[in-house]
Amino acid sequence: MGLFISFEGVEGCGKTTQLEMLREHLEWKGCQVVAVREPGGTELGEKIRGILLNIDTEGLAITPWSELFLYAVCRAQLVCEVIKPALGENKIVLCDRFADSTVVYQGYARGLSLQAIADINKWVTEGIAPDITFIMDCPPEVGLKRAMARINNIAEGKKEDRFERENIDFHKKVRDGYLRLAKEASTRIKVIDGGRGIPVIHKEICDIIEKKLEAMGKRK
Ligand code: TYD
Repeated sequence: MGLFISFEGVEGCGKTTQLEMLREHLEWKGCQVVAVREPGGTELGEKIRGILLNIDTEGLAITPWSELFLYAVCRAQLVCEVIKPALGENKIVLCDRFADSTVVYQGYARGLSLQAIADINKWVTEGIAPDITFIMDCPPEVGLKRAMARINNIAEGKKEDRFERENIDFHKKVRDGYLRLAKEASTRIKVIDGGRGIPVIHKEICDIIEKKLEAMGKRK
């Protein structure tokens, strides 16, 4: 039944780069890969993503619970429309953020009830959980610097999003939250030291996936 891999981490941790490199590697091997991002990945999800990431610039008010439910809507749609069918067709699904992001951002960092988040995640994921989650770990100061440099390099004038504007304490809570989750689910979650060179990290990730595929008895 397919393989579900998620990538998580603080802003600017390098997860999207690594996801793309893993996608290329797996496709080169002949695997069928579906890559998606959260929030987004469906028509509805991408529309809600636009709202979520631009609320401040559009002058909309949003409460932490409203924010949580918008992420949950995106996830429900993505699981039903894309992830579940792809896994059913034995494909490898790569997801840029998934349920752990809600636990960490809305739970540990915003302070909403972890129990409520676990319940909501259970409903919207329909019980589907990643087989492997890579947490790209780096100090938030380093990640934010990278994220800002990236934004300043984007010609069409993308502004930082609301999370990138949060203070450093918020991002420290995000990082600590991820490390806590990694301890609680040490079989599923692999903490990757994101402070190293891109090719070294890529090799570590590929080695872990190769082992997993071997254990699953399928090379494609
Ligand atoms: P994005 O631009 O995709 O950032 P990144 O490249 O860091 O993934 O924006 C997604 C933002 O949404 C990111 O700051 C984390 C946040 N987020 C949550 O707060 N809760 C969630 O459940 C998810 C999926 C994302």
